[in-house]
Amino acid sequence: MTIEEIKKKLKALNGEYAKIRELPKEERKAFGVKLNKQREELERELKAAEEAAESEDVEAIDITAPAAPNEQIPVIKQGSKHPLMTELNRVLDIYSRMGFNIIEARQLDDEFHMFESLNFPEGHPARDGYDTFRTEEGFIPPAHTSTMQYRALTRFKSDLEQGGQIAVVIPGRVFRNEDVDATHEHTFYQCEGVFVSEDATFGQMLGVLKSLFENYYGQDLKIKTQPGYFPFTEPSCELLIEKPKSLGGKGDGWLEMLGCGMIHPNVLKTAGIDPERYKGFAWGGGIDRLAMLKYGLNDVRYFESGKLEFLEEF
Ligand code: DAH
Repeated sequence: MTIEEIKKKLKALNGEYAKIRELPKEERKAFGVKLNKQREELERELKAAEEAAESEDVEAIDITAPAAPNEQIPVIKQGSKHPLMTELNRVLDIYSRMGFNIIEARQLDDEFHMFESLNFPEGHPARDGYDTFRTEEGFIPPAHTSTMQYRALTRFKSDLEQGGQIAVVIPGRVFRNEDVDATHEHTFYQCEGVFVSEDATFGQMLGVLKSLFENYYGQDLKIKTQPGYFPFTEPSCELLIEKPKSLGGKGDGWLEMLGCGMIHPNVLKTAGIDPERYKGFAWGGGIDRLAMLKYGLNDVRYFESGKLEFLEEF
């Protein structure tokens, strides 16, 4: 029977109940019981028929199948990784092949990690150079990934005490309250590096950085340093690389890539590491800049713009 047929029968059956009154008293009960039985039977059939119809309606779908074009979405566009994430992963891959651990930075931090732990005492003039945002509650969206140095040092200190070394890189999103132009964004990506051992040297640092850039750009490169100033390193430098030949360099131009230096004894001390016994170096720089140079981009604002025409090129 179809659903319709069962429903029709049920309706007819309901009509039958009216007849009870016309029957002699002694027959009423038996008649009522018979009708009830028939009704229960029909209702059971109806339920089964409805369930069967429902499962026929549900088509099995393959959720992994590519979407079929339709009128609402005439062209199905395939998404892709954001170019900055692709470049960041390349950089992290190089570091991890060198033996560095990777930990992630935070997007909201505090005064202690942003300044105090990095040897900027309260009122230190270099604090102003970081154009920090602050939340109403007094938290700081980090203006550089160096906010993670204290955490990297304390977290891996036991490796050092067991005769090993601290070797960590920390990628993160950073924020500065600056005017935005072709070379400045309020939000960008940095990657920090921290290395500590009993005999870490400035020369080792240059070796790590040269190797990073040569691997990333896939060619031999000259590097040089120029003096810089950061409260958390002593000495502090800017590292420059020779403009890669594949990117139009003719062995003449130099590009400033990152800040670096030997970790200041106060920074080690704050993290509970004896600066008489251990030495370290640290560095940090923008991922945006690496990627811009690689792809010949002249405007950093594209990265955060959400412009599909730009993103589709990668
Ligand atoms: N945090 C610095 C900045 O964003 C860059 C930097 C300089 C990081 C020296 C370091 C360092 O780790 O040692 O301007």
